[in-house]
Amino acid sequence: MRMIFIGPPGAGKGTQAARLVERYAIPHISTGDMFRAAVAAGTPLGKQADAHMRDGRLVPDEVTIGLVMERIGQDDAQGGFMLDGFPRTVPQAEALDRALSAAGLQLDVVLVLEVPDDLIVDRITGRRSDPETGEIYHVTFNPPPPSIAGRVIQRRDDTEEACRRRLAGFHSQTAPIVPFYEAKGIVRRVDGVGAPDEVTTRITAALTGS
Ligand code: AP5
Ligand code: MG
Repeated sequence: MRMIFIGPPGAGKGTQAARLVERYAIPHISTGDMFRAAVAAGTPLGKQADAHMRDGRLVPDEVTIGLVMERIGQDDAQGGFMLDGFPRTVPQAEALDRALSAAGLQLDVVLVLEVPDDLIVDRITGRRSDPETGEIYHVTFNPPPPSIAGRVIQRRDDTEEACRRRLAGFHSQTAPIVPFYEAKGIVRRVDGVGAPDEVTTRITAALTGS
């Protein structure tokens, strides 16, 4: 299964992708997670990505495309993958299309997770994550258990200002790629409002057609 997750910041892509990849036994490839790991490790890639991310701007296409092309060429991605956060520009979508076509492969499904803008800021500013497991929490909607509450961290781009810039970027740069996939007939739109379990049920229904 080759899947893409598209949705605004805070739509629940990471939360839902973690559940889906277990079911399909495919790698969860999150460009945001890859950039954050590079920033934490202080690599040249991380140094390039850091300022863009912190301000809520996209990392340049030429950096991002090369990173993802290399990742999907690795052994564990040969049977499929869940791309979370890529592609998010038209040139990224075109590059992925070219790479898959050249390998005689195609995408199976593009999941578009829909959440209205007015719910996004609360989701983003309340997000916390466990640096040891990567588990995603929310101070109100999914509070971390007391045993780990002391170690959860907040992403540096989860300020209200950066969130608004990311949201604007989603509408201007990422939403325009959806028609590209609609023309291929592989888009499944899922309502991302409601408890995470309800959203998982909707995604499962969208994927199985039930
Ligand atoms: P990235 O890490 O991809 O961030 P994003 O797209 O802004 O999405 P988020 O991770 O913020 O949200 P999510 O949809 O995963 O939501 P989550 O499940 O965590 O990218 C970060 C940055 O990296 C970019 O800004 C850019 O700089 C760079 N970058 C990455 N990819 C790039 C690319 N392709 N090109 C260029 N630059 C790139 O949930 C959010 C919160 O809501 C959590 O607290 C969660 O607990 C809560 N929540 C989840 N579901 C629900 C629910 N149903 N109800 C209530 N709360 C919920
Ligand atoms: Mg995420």
